[in-house]
Amino acid sequence: MTGNIFDEALERATLFRNKEHLRHSFRPSHLPHRDREVEQLSFNLLEALRGQIPSNMILYGVTGAGKTAVTSFVCNQLVEKGEQIGRSVHAITVNCRQIDTQYRVLTHLGNSLLEDHEVDEIPFTGWPTDRVLNELVRRMEQRQGVYILVLDEIDHLVRKAGDDLLYNLTNLNSSLNKARCCVIGISNDLKFTDFLDPRVRSRLGQQDVVFNPYVADHLRDILVERASSALRDDALDEGVIELCAALAAQEHGDARCALDLLRVSAERAEMEGSPMVGMHHVRAAQSQIEADQITPVIRSLPSQQKLVLAAVLLAERSGAKGIQTGEVYDIYDQACLHVGKSSLTPRRVSMLISNLDMLGVITARTVSRGRYGRSKEIHSSLPPNVDAERIISESDDDLAPLFAATYRRQTRL
Ligand SMILES: Nc1ncnc2c1ncn2[C@@H]1O[C@H](COP(=O)(O)OP(=O)(O)O)[C@@H](O)[C@H]1O
Ligand SMILES: [Mg+2]
Repeated sequence: MTGNIFDEALERATLFRNKEHLRHSFRPSHLPHRDREVEQLSFNLLEALRGQIPSNMILYGVTGAGKTAVTSFVCNQLVEKGEQIGRSVHAITVNCRQIDTQYRVLTHLGNSLLEDHEVDEIPFTGWPTDRVLNELVRRMEQRQGVYILVLDEIDHLVRKAGDDLLYNLTNLNSSLNKARCCVIGISNDLKFTDFLDPRVRSRLGQQDVVFNPYVADHLRDILVERASSALRDDALDEGVIELCAALAAQEHGDARCALDLLRVSAERAEMEGSPMVGMHHVRAAQSQIEADQITPVIRSLPSQQKLVLAAVLLAERSGAKGIQTGEVYDIYDQACLHVGKSSLTPRRVSMLISNLDMLGVITARTVSRGRYGRSKEIHSSLPPNVDAERIISESDDDLAPLFAATYRRQTRL
């Protein structure tokens, strides 16, 4: 009898106890180093348990600072306590990166207030905004109680669609009699309020909470706790958690990044059949994650942007280091000619260089060259396992000839 292809894999010892506990979607019930933020949120939301209206809030902080985790934890506790003491408190969260127009957010809120037996959904298009708002108010009034409306990643929606949604939602209480509501906006962008009308800003920002980035020690404690339920005892070699924490601390203190590193390291160790996650697995995981992140960025660059990047890569291929803007331009200009594209002005190319720098694909450092003025020194900054030439050639047929051996010979690059 022939075996099943999964037999061997199933018998292999696994390093995980529960891999879900290392995923972003997992909502831990204890959040190390966020006591102050939990306290600020719960102190305000406590009003809901007294039947009062909590202040509207804005929560700020870089990605992976625990904003979503803290809010979801506090809201769950709040709703649970409400049920225990017979106070009707509802928390509804909308992710405004996924649901990213005013209309869709309002329908989502309205439809999440439907009871199981009800079928009169608000349609996903077609109604005037006022009608959706009236319907939302009607349903809130019917069910009564205090509503906590959490608009996660609200900066994304406001940048795209303006602040009408916030204007309307922070004004709901004036139409409500039996129900009450408060709005919590969560933003990854500290400058988000610059996009708001001052009236909306003052109505929404009654209380601001800033989530500072985690430092390495915080991330270590977070990882230790998550790892204890996610991985088997003795699955981690000494120093593994510290390394994941240190690397993620360099990445603006992102807990998400720390968790990814630990999860991917453990997956790699397990795939190799290694009994333990070692430091080298973390290093390998880091370059795998970096490559996975940067590849789609390069692939989706506009054609001209790819040409500028190609110019930097071609110069470096020929051994040049720290190339100046002018040299990049010359190579870029030749490259355009070769693939039959018209070239942009040096000024525009200089802007494209800054843009590539911002995306983290290259670094452009301004250097002073004495009486010759200032110029930029440019290096590619791609992880070693990313083959940018291949990504450019495969994603843009027109540019493939640039990396053909004949072209490099012909231009003596
Ligand atoms: N203090 C913490 N303790 C445990 N896990 C945390 C903590 N802070 C963040 N995390 C985890 O890190 C990941 C990212 O956090 P998240 O709340 O989504 O960040 P943000 O919303 O600020 O981008 C989630 O998986 C979350 O559970
Ligand atoms: Mg979040």
